[in-house]
Amino acid sequence: MQNGPPIIGVSPAIERIRDLINHVADTGLNIVISGETGVGKEVIAQNLYQKSPRRGKPFVKVNCAALPEGLLESELYGYERGAFTGAEQKRKGKFELANGGVLFLDEIGDMPILLQSKLLHVLQSGEFAPLGSEKEFKTDTWLIAATNHDLEDEIKKQKFREDLYYRLNIIKFYIPPLRERIEDIPHLINYYIEMYTSQYNNRSILQPNSRILQKLSDYHWPGNVRELQNVLKRVLVLGTWDEIIGELDYNSNRSTNTVSHEPNQAKTPQFTPQSLFFENGRAPSLESFSLKEIKKTALDKIEKEAIAYVLEKTGWNRSRASKILKISYKTLLYKISDLGIQPPLT
Ligand SMILES: Nc1ncnc2c1ncn2[C@@H]1O[C@H](COP(=O)(O)OP(=O)(O)OP(=O)(O)O)[C@@H](O)[C@H]1O
Ligand SMILES: [Mg+2]
Repeated sequence: MQNGPPIIGVSPAIERIRDLINHVADTGLNIVISGETGVGKEVIAQNLYQKSPRRGKPFVKVNCAALPEGLLESELYGYERGAFTGAEQKRKGKFELANGGVLFLDEIGDMPILLQSKLLHVLQSGEFAPLGSEKEFKTDTWLIAATNHDLEDEIKKQKFREDLYYRLNIIKFYIPPLRERIEDIPHLINYYIEMYTSQYNNRSILQPNSRILQKLSDYHWPGNVRELQNVLKRVLVLGTWDEIIGELDYNSNRSTNTVSHEPNQAKTPQFTPQSLFFENGRAPSLESFSLKEIKKTALDKIEKEAIAYVLEKTGWNRSRASKILKISYKTLLYKISDLGIQPPLT
């Protein structure tokens, strides 16, 4: 069997993904791959394709988020000459170009709703019509879609059609973020150190020592494997880990839930502008990027950290803490419960 680009990792999630690829690669069932940015969705799609009987045929990728509605439609389905002003030549769409092979629809969650209806029709009938054409053409393409949105959430917000979701999402691949499978980090590092060392004239990266590895495992990696690659490239150029490690410390927003158990060693809250509106290391989608929401999330985070900090410092003496914070005892109790502030486990 052929292989795609290597999928590095030893975590149970990655093992399961490898297994699932082998099970479904020759079925042609529609697939949705989900996960945050940079987790390897395209790597999985390439592996499915390379292990399928379609590997000799085209693999065509369309990024649904990159084009406005009209252009995306003509990109997917093509057009006849004269279909619209400026259509001087007939042009093939990606559905036609991918015939016999794979059509990889990246960022499917960003496909405008009208185009979702058209896609549903193609999936149901196996036929499509280029813009300006009366005739429908048969298509035999394997659809693999990827998304970094939670499509079920998008359905609730009426941004994604439920019927299309069920058509597309026959086999689900979910790739967890890197921070939830930190056992993969050393393997990825070794793999990329070897790759970059030979790529960049044998300039070598120092293997991280255990203290650095610990820092790399504690970091929240919002850009996932792609971000790790960039870090390694920078280490290669700078010739040292020191600078990078300092930055990771600064960027890390993990302090939110990890208050120290020692009253006198309470962590000073640290925020970067982005950590304030990153929810669990994840930026809100542009659709929900409302300033009001962001303000509320940021203020809640600051309040939570500040209160947790004072509670730690006072050994959870709530009466004293409320005086320091200059709020009433009752308000403090309410905020502790509302913001989900946890006492130490001891
Ligand atoms: N498990 C892995 N093993 C080896 N390389 C990986 C792995 N996961 C990701 N990568 C590498 O990380 C980079 C990002 O992966 P990819 O482009 O597949 O992510 P993505 O999920 O499609 O991201 P986006 O949502 O931003 O499009 C690529 O260079 C890819 O080769
Ligand atoms: Mg991608």
